[in-house]
Parts: sequence; structure tokens; C-alpha cells
Amino acid sequence: MTSTGIRLHAPAPGWSISADVVVVGSGVAGLTAALRCEAAGLRTVVVTKARLDDGSTRWAQGGIAAALGEGDTPDQHLDDTLVAGAGLCDADAVRLLVTEGPDAVRRLIATGAHFDESSEGNLELTREGGHHRRRIAHAGGDATGAEISRALVEAVRARGLRTIENALVLDLLTDADGRTAGVTLHVMGEGQHDGVGAVHAPHVVLATGGMGQVFSATTNPSVSTGDGVALALRAGAEVSDLEFVQFHPTVLFLGIDAEGQQPLVSEAVRGEGAHLVDADGVRFMVGQHELAELAPRDIVAKGITRRMLEQDAENMFLDARHFGADMWEHRFPTILAACRAHGIDPVHEPIPIAPAAHYASGGVRTDDHGRTTVPGLYACGEVACTGVHGANRLASNSLLEGLVYAERIAADIADGRAENGLHARVPAPVPQPEQPAHPLLGAEARFAIQRIMTEGAGVLRSADSLDKAADQLQRLHTEARDALAENGKTAEPGVDTWESTNLLCVARVLVAAARLREETRGCHWREDHAERDDAAWRRHIVVRLNPDRTLAVQTTDSADFPPTRQQPAQRPQEQ
Ligand code: SIN
Repeated sequence: MTSTGIRLHAPAPGWSISADVVVVGSGVAGLTAALRCEAAGLRTVVVTKARLDDGSTRWAQGGIAAALGEGDTPDQHLDDTLVAGAGLCDADAVRLLVTEGPDAVRRLIATGAHFDESSEGNLELTREGGHHRRRIAHAGGDATGAEISRALVEAVRARGLRTIENALVLDLLTDADGRTAGVTLHVMGEGQHDGVGAVHAPHVVLATGGMGQVFSATTNPSVSTGDGVALALRAGAEVSDLEFVQFHPTVLFLGIDAEGQQPLVSEAVRGEGAHLVDADGVRFMVGQHELAELAPRDIVAKGITRRMLEQDAENMFLDARHFGADMWEHRFPTILAACRAHGIDPVHEPIPIAPAAHYASGGVRTDDHGRTTVPGLYACGEVACTGVHGANRLASNSLLEGLVYAERIAADIADGRAENGLHARVPAPVPQPEQPAHPLLGAEARFAIQRIMTEGAGVLRSADSLDKAADQLQRLHTEARDALAENGKTAEPGVDTWESTNLLCVARVLVAAARLREETRGCHWREDHAERDDAAWRRHIVVRLNPDRTLAVQTTDSADFPPTRQQPAQRPQEQ
């Protein structure tokens, strides 16, 4: 696979540095990959969009799932993951996750992360939706991500790894053979490396996190604008399963017009016995699934949405008054503080909740070593689609996936270097064309995209809603393209306009996949195709960007998931 030649409109790089590996992103996946690469003797640079601890990892509450408890086994974890994934997980990828997971968590502890322990010194484990056992390790009660982030950032600083903060990655650089040669990036700083520059490296690890900001209300921080997926598409890589956006069932409801990052109310609150109730206090999940409130996340999000529609209500409630003040303060201090900051006291009243966009189960398609379809380009964490999540990620599998696949990537790069003798080989990137190839959208387009996606491609979708969304997105795309073609005009390059342009790119792919998938499966819910259709749709939707910026859409069998076993195109569709 070679680059499409498409790149964001940006000034030419004014500075450059070189490395063996550049890791883009500083959550659990990025920092784990960086630490392991550095330990293998690879010159490693971490570039991150804001500060090192500003990504999604810090916001993770519930914990990290692994078969660490007495009587639990990787096979049981595998079974729960496959059930949640609704027929689209790659079982081999899941097996790697669940068997390598427990030791990866132990290595994280050895790196310095402190998890909550019982008075006997055993890990305290909780439950979340879809897990038949207590297997979620947590830290600081409900501050697991913050603790993992703290430990990894401290380790990166202690090891003296080179880091570049406030750096938005723009595009992949490739050499004459189409191999990865580094990235261009824009740094907002005062120092030597300011403005647009380049890190030249034969290996790039994308760990840029998710794309929750494509919707109006999300649990994701403002930096989650799909930059990694958009970069990979422009570089010619394949992305898969983008229609499977997980809506977290219980996000603190701050009003129907609330926008941007919303406070999460962890599934672990239900894991410890909280009940979902409607305004009349009725537990509506009982009888819908054997696990009631602890059913897999898609089922709970649908149960809540259905009840809201039936009752014409804007939200439902999570009732955990029976925990009492001590348990709330000890076990869920972060959530308690967030609720109180918004005038709600969960000790004395049910918490108003509604679903909001939370996690991209799909992403840049990789094999078991985190390799994408572009040589030298890797992806791990939420930006990747390794096949472990299928149509719906099992709760708390994401931190584990970040750990396990980051380690696999570092091992693959280190092994390749040993085999190929690529010591410090820095490829020469092909010179970039003078003229911009990709028009930029204005900063304000971000809000238009969020509104279009929330109305047309949210929890509940239909052909009508998706067609409308596709038309509106196409209009934004065409206007920007025509303005550039006809008057040479495009929005001023800058973080806001690059982000809007990336958001439009991922929104178009998401909507194209959601239109094509005429069934309801996992977290993809079609009002007009209410049933799961295994005969037609036990398949993945794989999308590439054509050089003219149209989308090439194809499907592959579920069993053919890893790119190494990829089949020829089945259902080509140009948009
Ligand atoms: C939560 O704590 O509910 C979020 C966990 C996850 O998304 O895996």
C-alpha cells in the first residue's frame, strides 16, 4: 500500500530531528510502546498533542480487565470478550490479549502503578458490564487512568526519553519505496522546535487515541479529534469497523444541549450494585438481560435509550443511595466530586444519566503485531483496530489492549531491527509537493460536524438519518474543495482548522460504513434494520482514501480480519 499523496495544507517543515521510532500519543499505549522501544535500545521520540498526561487515559475510571483473580482464567475473559463483540472479534487477537494481559498488568505495576489492594495485600477486583467475574483492577477507587498515566509519565521522565509536547501530528512521510519515513508535526512552543517540523524515523507508532469529538457530547477530552485515523487514511492505510462507536450508558446528564467532554459515571458503580431506574423508580433493565444493569454496554445503552423514547424523557437515573457516604467517598471519590460540582449528591439522590459517545471500537486496521497496511506504520490503543473489540468493546479491555499491543509493537520493531540490521537507518523522505493537496475547513466546521453526527449517526441510526448526514458532510467537503480549486482559497492552517479537517475525514468514513451496514449489531443500532444479520453481515467494513479523496469501501469476512490474511475486495463502493 502506498501513500495517497494527500496531505494537510501546511507550511513546509522548518526544522527536523531523527530517531529510530517516533511514537505519536502519550496515553497508556503510546507511553508503553515508547518505554519498551527505549528499553530495546531504539532511539525513541514521543510527540503528543497537549501535555504528556492530557489524553484519554487519564480519564479512565473503572479500571483494567485481566484474569488476575482466584478462579478466573484467560479463557473466561476470552468468552466474555467474544460475547460482547457480537460475532466480529478476531478470536486469535483476543486470545493474545487475554493470555498476555495478566503479565502485562504485572509489568505495569513493576513500572510503578499502584492498584487498590485488600487488607491482605491482594488486588481488589470489581465487575463491569459483560464480565461474569470480578476481574477489573482499579486505582484510587475510580481514578485508574490517572494513576496509570502518572506512573508511565514518571517512568518516561526518569528514563530521560525525548518528548515533544503541544505537538499536533499532521502527516506521514514516506520514502521512495512507500515505506514510513517519519511524520510532519506542528509544535506550539517557544523553543528550538517551534512551528511545523519533521521527525524522520523508519517506524511510526500511532497511539493518538479516539475521535469522540466527532459528536457533540462525549466522555473524550477535546484533543480526541481522530487525528491518527485521518493521518493513516491520507497515508493510504486501511481503517476498519468505524461504524462501531460505543456510547457509554451512564454519563452525567447536564442538559439536552450539553456539549464537549461530559463527566463519566463508571460502570463500576453498577458493578458495585447501583441500579438503573426511570423517573418512577422502576428498574427497567431487569428482565431485558440475565445480567440486568451489568449486561454488555451496547445492551444497556439501548435499554436506556428505549426507555427514554417510551417515556419521552431526556434522561434516566442511576440509584446508588444505598452505598452510603463512606463507600461513595472511599470507592468513587472522583465521581462523587464531579456530581457534587454539578449540584447532585449521589448519597441522597439518584444521578441523572444519559448515554454519550465514549469509545471507537474500530480504527486503523492492524495485524497481531500492530502493523498497519503501510510498511513501518504501526497503531495501538484506541486509534487501532486490532480485532479484539469486534462490534462492541468489553468494558475495561481498552487499557489492557493498549498495554499488550504496545508491547507487541515494540518487540516487532526491535526484532526487525535485529534481523535487518537497520541500526539508526533514517530513510530519506520523498520531497513534498509545493502546492497543498488537501483544503482545510474553518474552525467553526467542528460544531457543524458534531451537530450533523449527533443528529444522524448517534446511538440510533436509520437510512434516512445517515443519508442526510452523508449529504451534509459531503457539502462541507465539496465547499472546501471548490473554494480551493476555484479561488485558491482555504482556511488558514492552524490547530483548529487541521482538527476540523480531520474530524470531517473520520466522520465521512464513519457514516459511509454505518450506511452500508444494514443490520443492528453491537453498538451499531439501525432503526430500519433492527436484527443482527449474520448471513450478510458477519463481515468487516474496510475503508481507504483514494488519491482524489473519494472513499474506497470494501468488506472482508470476519475470519479474514488481520491484513496478512486479507481477501480481495468484495463490495467496492465509491462515494
Ligand atoms: C467505565 O469506567 O465505565 C469506563 C470503562 C471503560 O470504558 O472501559
